[in-house]
Amino acid sequence: MDKKKVTEKMSWGKKNRIRKIIQDDGRVVMLALDHGYFLGPTRGMEQPRKALEPLLPHVDSLMLSPGILTSCVEPDFKGGIVLRSSGGSSIISDDLSNEGIILKPLEAVKLNASAMAISIFIGTKYEKQTLMNLAETINEAAKYEMPVLAVTAVGKELEKRDARFLALSSRIAAEFGADIVKTYYCENFEKVTSTCPKPIVVAGGPKLETELDVFELCYNSIQAGAVGVDMGRNIWQNEDPGAMVQAIKAIVHDNYKPKEAEELYKELKNKK
Ligand code: 5RP
Repeated sequence: MDKKKVTEKMSWGKKNRIRKIIQDDGRVVMLALDHGYFLGPTRGMEQPRKALEPLLPHVDSLMLSPGILTSCVEPDFKGGIVLRSSGGSSIISDDLSNEGIILKPLEAVKLNASAMAISIFIGTKYEKQTLMNLAETINEAAKYEMPVLAVTAVGKELEKRDARFLALSSRIAAEFGADIVKTYYCENFEKVTSTCPKPIVVAGGPKLETELDVFELCYNSIQAGAVGVDMGRNIWQNEDPGAMVQAIKAIVHDNYKPKEAEELYKELKNKK
């Protein structure tokens, strides 16, 4: 997606924030590590500061909760900061979609955030509540020219990840005014990207079987129109997270093909 098109109608402040996330080439490698907000100390992210060490030099942006930002990332971090701003249910609660707003835009401004992230759970009992979380955050965040990223969440129902559902959720997020939409890759992904007028980033979901599967997901997402990835477990649950993030970066920013990225991954891994 053309960087200028993404930001052309925005104020200076919003443009500046978005450009900390989406880079000059119109692409982004965002590292997602907000999982603890409902999963607690997930495998691979038990100690965020340690896990981040090999990854920080290679990412454009982080997506994380305010508590992990302030306790595990030094203030000299130069990349984009996307703050998890909805939450309120844990993995052992009845319904993951029962979320409220956990961070207000003024607090996000104080933390020098580049955007706020709100999940919407379309088709669930709490659909309206989560859409109102998004609407309220967009309206409040507008006072500070703070961008909002909407996450088209599926909770525990991973099978929901098809083009019909994701196009519906992504389009609703864009209609509400989200600046960036985070969704999942799926078959016929062009249906999702072509009907959503806002930049799309893809999550990885639970760890895939092979590295090549991850590289194909990244490559196919970009080919179908995504501006990049907002990925977590398939990076930091890998045997070599540092090599993984560099190979993904090569796909996103240097147009590597999946097999080329796999070769780079192996090369970096074998160097150690
Ligand atoms: C949770 C999220 C995660 O950030 C998202 O799922 C991305 O991480 P992963 O690539 O591990 O799926 O928004 O609601």
